[in-house]
Amino acid sequence: MLEKILQMKKNNEKIVMVTCYDATMAKIMSNSNVDMFLVGDSVGMTKLGYENTLSVTMDDMIHHTKATARGTNKDKVVVVSDMPYKSYEDDPKLAAENAKKLIDAGADMVKLEGGLEIIDSIKAIINEGIEIVGHLGLMPQSIKKMGGYKVQCRDEESQKKLLEDSLLLQKAGVSMIVFEGIPETIAKTVTEKLDIPTIGIGAGRYCDGQVLVSDDLLGMFTDFTPKFVKKYANLAQVIQEATAQYSKEVKEGKFPQEVNTYK
Ligand code: KIV
Repeated sequence: MLEKILQMKKNNEKIVMVTCYDATMAKIMSNSNVDMFLVGDSVGMTKLGYENTLSVTMDDMIHHTKATARGTNKDKVVVVSDMPYKSYEDDPKLAAENAKKLIDAGADMVKLEGGLEIIDSIKAIINEGIEIVGHLGLMPQSIKKMGGYKVQCRDEESQKKLLEDSLLLQKAGVSMIVFEGIPETIAKTVTEKLDIPTIGIGAGRYCDGQVLVSDDLLGMFTDFTPKFVKKYANLAQVIQEATAQYSKEVKEGKFPQEVNTYK
């Protein structure tokens, strides 16, 4: 499956990635013609009620990776699992051990945020034969350093670093790179210089693929909608209205009816 996806860049076919965090959604979205599920550490905000991704643990990621893998049709979809904050940055040996735990939980690949700063961890993981998705640009695990969720790579120096980091990751053997929150022009330039695919989120139209957080595209997350998100449904409203209707019918004695009752 991964080979086929990597070939898509050469064939000029767009790669589709979407976040997925549990078996129910994995079963449904396995039939939605997507190529990759990302068990993102965005699970911290979308499902676990954390303020950001920094509180997500290896145990959280293992739990949600197992659930997602159980529901995924692996003939159709590759599962990528995020390595959470502090599980890989400072210690290559620990990085390789933790990457292996996510693979054992059912991931096909792991994703890490960073370039040169984490290259030793990247190499240690690849040495174990584990496939990697890189992540550059806006890196949510570095929001404190970046001063919040701000578009990155607007100046020449940071654009140069994006290109250097991308080439470094490619040389190290990383299979593809997520570009988050960067101007379209620089995403296009770097995408054209790389042999490996780029997957954009808030990175414009010219990456080799796109990723969105499923709660955003399905309209489950209602706090705010960033510019780069397109809502394809309004599930928050559907869920709220369906549940309110159920409540009304119970309170009015209209549910259950005879048809819902065992004899
Ligand atoms: O955790 C996540 O959902 C991600 C995407 C934003 C790419 O890393």
